Amino acid sequence: MGESIICFRKCRLGRVMGCIQFVLGSLVILVSLSSLFRFYSAGFFLHDEDICRHFYGVKDVYDSFDIRALSSRVDEVLDKMESLQDKFELIVQEMEKNKDELQKGSIPKLEYKRFLEEEVIKPLYSAHIALRQIRMPRVEGIGNVTIKEDPLINNFVIEEIRKYITPKENRHKKVNIFGTQKIYNTIGHACVSMKKELEEYMDYDIGSYCKDDWNIAQKLMINGCDPLPRRRCLARASKLYQKPYPMNESLWRIPDGRNVRWNNYLCRNYECLSGKNPKRGYTKCTGCFEMEKEELKWVTNSSLPVDFLIRDVLAVKPGEIRIGLDFGIGTGTFAARMREQNVTIISTALNLGAPFSETIALRGLIPLYVTLNQRLPFFDNTMDTIHTAGFMDGWIDLQLLDFILFDWDRVLRPGGLLWIDRFFCNRTDLDDFMYMLLQFRYKKHKWSIAPKGKDEVYLSALLEKPPRSL
Ligand SMILES: *[C@@H]1O[C@H](CO)[C@@H](O)[C@H](O)[C@H]1NC(C)=O
Ligand SMILES: *[C@@H]1O[C@H](CO)[C@@H](O)[C@H](O)[C@H]1NC(C)=O
Ligand SMILES: *[C@@H]1O[C@H](CO)[C@@H](O)[C@H](O)[C@H]1NC(C)=O
Ligand SMILES: *[C@@H]1O[C@H](CO)[C@@H](O)[C@H](O)[C@H]1NC(C)=O
Ligand SMILES: *[C@@H]1O[C@H](CO)[C@@H](O)[C@H](O)[C@H]1NC(C)=O
Repeated sequence: MGESIICFRKCRLGRVMGCIQFVLGSLVILVSLSSLFRFYSAGFFLHDEDICRHFYGVKDVYDSFDIRALSSRVDEVLDKMESLQDKFELIVQEMEKNKDELQKGSIPKLEYKRFLEEEVIKPLYSAHIALRQIRMPRVEGIGNVTIKEDPLINNFVIEEIRKYITPKENRHKKVNIFGTQKIYNTIGHACVSMKKELEEYMDYDIGSYCKDDWNIAQKLMINGCDPLPRRRCLARASKLYQKPYPMNESLWRIPDGRNVRWNNYLCRNYECLSGKNPKRGYTKCTGCFEMEKEELKWVTNSSLPVDFLIRDVLAVKPGEIRIGLDFGIGTGTFAARMREQNVTIISTALNLGAPFSETIALRGLIPLYVTLNQRLPFFDNTMDTIHTAGFMDGWIDLQLLDFILFDWDRVLRPGGLLWIDRFFCNRTDLDDFMYMLLQFRYKKHKWSIAPKGKDEVYLSALLEKPPRSL
């Protein structure tokens, strides 16, 4: 290119040289694009080990990832692109000075100038910025080199996501109350594979109203982008939020529909959510928006031996059960009944087709908006009881169930009650599930199996976590 600039001056925009310039310019673009491409194909952006190996050599990747080479390679490209940009701008300035000749000359030269500005400098600049955005891992130490890289940072281009996941150092380099020097804002690792949706979700004007997109957020969470990044926009609320009913009324009353934003549900009011409506939009806990039906649960004798009564369960540990978790899908009726017994229950609630979270909260109970993805946000040995109904059944992977059960065991206090309520599965799978439940050697207070149709069975159990003194 240096040569071509000299030529440029000598020939004073000669038509022939202009053509050569054009060709050379194109070559440069090709070169810079191909270096970019090499970076892409090297997996620098993709973090694909296999492709990396191709680029860095097998040995480097596995025993000591040659991060220095990587840094210098990137710096190389950055410098090259920067100098290319300077050169191109110089050429355009040169042409600007010789405007007259340029006009006297032929249109192709004007076209050529436009070409440089529009087609070369702009893309080069944006590529340059894109490369600049890559946050280089810091290389520390002399003998034992350690690589410090902000996790996932180079997976995202959208600035708001990058800002969010960048660890925030404490001000004035102080140590905070947690005893750490920085705070990590975490996101679920599967966010990486849902980059496009996440970027759409994080595309907003800071401080303005968010899009009405809680359903996109929930979809991201369910698919493993959980936790989601926080957002700096204002969540929408219903137009005229009515004050909730007083506690003595709210527990057993369908809430005011005006307090729910219905836009993203099939139904537009509570009446529509009736179990009789085939287009109600949800499939689990059919009828759980009808209080007449809900009022019967756990307090009236049913025809099935797998239905235990709250009264009987609490009688197993009189006065001992005060706090607990209801892991399931529903409108909070279990928590409402337990509240009447002075037991505080937190109910998990995803809005799977109906406003479960809103309903539980409007009834004056606590909805916990969590998926199955995560460890429960409770400390070890804290809960007096865990109740689960209507959520996990025969579809669940055994290993997943195992992780979940061990987590529940962790959270449950010694002497706490695990109430498996109407778990159901194919008769042929029952042994596997029974094994999973029995492996903890809990004390069996109640254990009941009943048929559910031809192939399937219900299983209910009331188990007590034994003391663990180690
Ligand atoms: C490097 O690490 C090894 C093992 O962790 C240690 O034995 C060695 O002393 C370290 N070398 C330096 C220069 O720190
Ligand atoms: C609920 O309590 C309020 C005041 O505490 C009372 O005025 C109202 O009548 C009660 N409602 C019911 C249904 O008991
Ligand atoms: C339920 O059944 C038990 C015994 O089977 C009986 O003692 C109790 O009175 C019944 N309760 C109701 C509400 O029918
Ligand atoms: C719950 O607590 C209240 C207030 O302490 C008490 O009056 C009531 O009897 C308790 N209910 C039960 C079922 O223990
Ligand atoms: C239960 O398992 C049997 C045998 O594996 C299968 O034929 C049947 O379709 C299954 N039933 C259901 C409801 O999944």
